[in-house]
Amino acid sequence: MTDALRIAPIDYPFPEKPASLSAERSAFLTQEIKRLLVEKNATLVAHYYTDPEIQALAEATGGCVSDSLEMARFGRDCAAETLIVAGVKFMGETSKILSPEKTVLMPTLEATCSLDLGCPEKEFSDFCDTHPDHTVVVYANTSAAVKARADWIVTSSIALEIVEHLDSEGHKIIWGPDRHLGSYIAKETGADMLMWQGECIVHDEFSSKALKDLQHVYPDAAILVHPESPASVVEMADAVGSTSQLINAAKSLPNKQLIVATDRGIFYKMQQQVPDKELLEAPTGGNGATCKSCAHCPWMAMNGLESIYKALTCDAGDNSLHNIEVDESVREGALISLNRMLDFSAQLKANANTSV
Ligand code: 13P
Ligand code: SF4
Repeated sequence: MTDALRIAPIDYPFPEKPASLSAERSAFLTQEIKRLLVEKNATLVAHYYTDPEIQALAEATGGCVSDSLEMARFGRDCAAETLIVAGVKFMGETSKILSPEKTVLMPTLEATCSLDLGCPEKEFSDFCDTHPDHTVVVYANTSAAVKARADWIVTSSIALEIVEHLDSEGHKIIWGPDRHLGSYIAKETGADMLMWQGECIVHDEFSSKALKDLQHVYPDAAILVHPESPASVVEMADAVGSTSQLINAAKSLPNKQLIVATDRGIFYKMQQQVPDKELLEAPTGGNGATCKSCAHCPWMAMNGLESIYKALTCDAGDNSLHNIEVDESVREGALISLNRMLDFSAQLKANANTSV
């Protein structure tokens, strides 16, 4: 059985697009950032959705470009004293939860996520309290406080396996906040899930109608879809998965053309893996002024060379615009559910290795 909680739509405060930089300024900032990363024993950890120049800089400096689960693991395991997390705020918080001894700085703390905004801790906690017989599973795209309220945290790369496991043990589940991802998982696993009604404003905009039109133009293309997209788009997919799973699918599918329904930032890494394939952006419902995201997360776009430079040059005593802080009692609570996911993931890997 699947049931749902409806919340009033939230009016998202969209950030301004950062101004583009001159070639001279970009070159200067790139050199300075490289120097400062070494000087401050800092590492740049970037998400696949950040702009290509940020991903290239993370690669060139021995940092990491990955999905949100791997970003957290990399940050925890690397030797740097300071992590510069280029992504959105929940990613910085996850790094801090796992690495409290490290300084975690973000280009801007205003880079948030519509899923995080759409799941306020108080309302979500009240919802959970009214269903005490349910196990609370939350997506990583949430605040540290919501994570602390959860029994389990999942990312899209491991959500299916964890819900399958909980369902096999007879758990009824509260799922939050992404309603599309939750519906996809409920459909795949048959689990009993009560859904919070959040959504990603980027993936929610992909349109099955426009995708069908594009499919007529490229009949041999495979369709790759992130499960934060609406069910009608997911149904058309040849591969559904998290960002890293979509990159793997791009490699393993035989098709020479791939239509990709996720943030276009992923094209940088995907194209590296499949240099001989043509990558096409899946269409959104609107365009220009009528499109909220145009397949690029407005908060991910806030990560630029200028803001990374500011994070690296801010005064340690006055770094409130960049420094991630998580209240210790919240951190301890969130760590329990986060470690459940990491332990589960390590166990899955170990099982896969022994079965080959
Ligand atoms: P991943 O967990 O696949 O990195 O996705 C994070 C995200 O924000 C998707 O929109
Ligand atoms: Fe959040 Fe969507 Fe942006 Fe991912 S793409 S960070 S889910 S708003």
